Amino acid sequence: MVLNMTRPKVFIAREIPKKGIDMISEYYDVEVWDKYQPPPRDVYVEKIKDIDALVSLLSDKINRELLSYAKKLRIIAQYAVGYDNIDVDACTEKGIYVTNTPGVLSESVADLTIGLILAITRRIVEGDKFVRSGEWERLGTAWHPNLMVGMDLKGKVLGIVGMGGIGYEVAKRAKVFGMKIIYYDVIRKENVEKELGVEFYNLEELLKVSDVVSLHVPLTKETYHLIGEKELKSMKPTAYLINTARGPVVDEDALYTALKEQWIAGAALDVFKKEPLPKDSKLLELENIVVTPHIGSAGKETREGMAILVAKNLIAFAKGEVPPNLVNKEVTKITKPGF
Ligand code: GLV
Ligand code: GLV
Repeated sequence: MVLNMTRPKVFIAREIPKKGIDMISEYYDVEVWDKYQPPPRDVYVEKIKDIDALVSLLSDKINRELLSYAKKLRIIAQYAVGYDNIDVDACTEKGIYVTNTPGVLSESVADLTIGLILAITRRIVEGDKFVRSGEWERLGTAWHPNLMVGMDLKGKVLGIVGMGGIGYEVAKRAKVFGMKIIYYDVIRKENVEKELGVEFYNLEELLKVSDVVSLHVPLTKETYHLIGEKELKSMKPTAYLINTARGPVVDEDALYTALKEQWIAGAALDVFKKEPLPKDSKLLELENIVVTPHIGSAGKETREGMAILVAKNLIAFAKGEVPPNLVNKEVTKITKPGF
């Protein structure tokens, strides 16, 4: 470490695991926003005027307007794999590097996805409520052939939409349950087809034949409302929809109608159009739904891994190297990494 040198300033917009902050502190002057709630907009505006680097969260809207206040900002290291909250084009124009945290969280998100598949098909959450509310006792029978019967997974078709790092881990796990796995992606993944014996389908066909449809695409202009009324109507009435990707990939109003009118059997959702999901959301009036508060990557080791990856990206940049998880590769033609 060179002493007596002004070090670049980084604003870390929420308390990320300490390991990452310690690593970053070796190269940067660090300020951490230590409140649970996000920095208010006016605070963000003030901070961004004065920093060289930013660690952002997916709930922070980094748009063109906010970026217009940045005077020295060179890198935004997002603490997430998805980065639809950042106007990447605006960053590139301003010569700002953008990085994310792919890979390290794929298994954790896949774990939650499998959990949600089991929760909705085997009625785990419904069962918990049933026991707690005293309904079980009121029913007056310990066991009944028809009590809380759900859908078996063996032999059922799992349709994975988006066979990236996360989709791959979901496929690996679902195989153990004896599911037949098919997938749709804009890029054919022949290596995954060979390794896991999964089959490529176009989206339309996938939706028609799947018993469980699970979404693992990033949110982009192309995937916004990818699953809308037409798509939901094409699914089997016995099928389930799982979303651990991003809320707006699904048209939430259409999904509400689909669940209410039973075009499909149920849905398990970790992500929503508006987060936090408002308490008066009409989705919460539905019985055939399981909801969790955007916790796909919320495993202890995973969150630490994400912090380390954020640190590695910031440190590489500070050393004048292209960060390992650079999102906007074109930016290297505009400015070189380093302060
Ligand atoms: C979480 O949603 C992420 O994108 O990492
Ligand atoms: C997600 O983690 C990915 O690597 O695609």
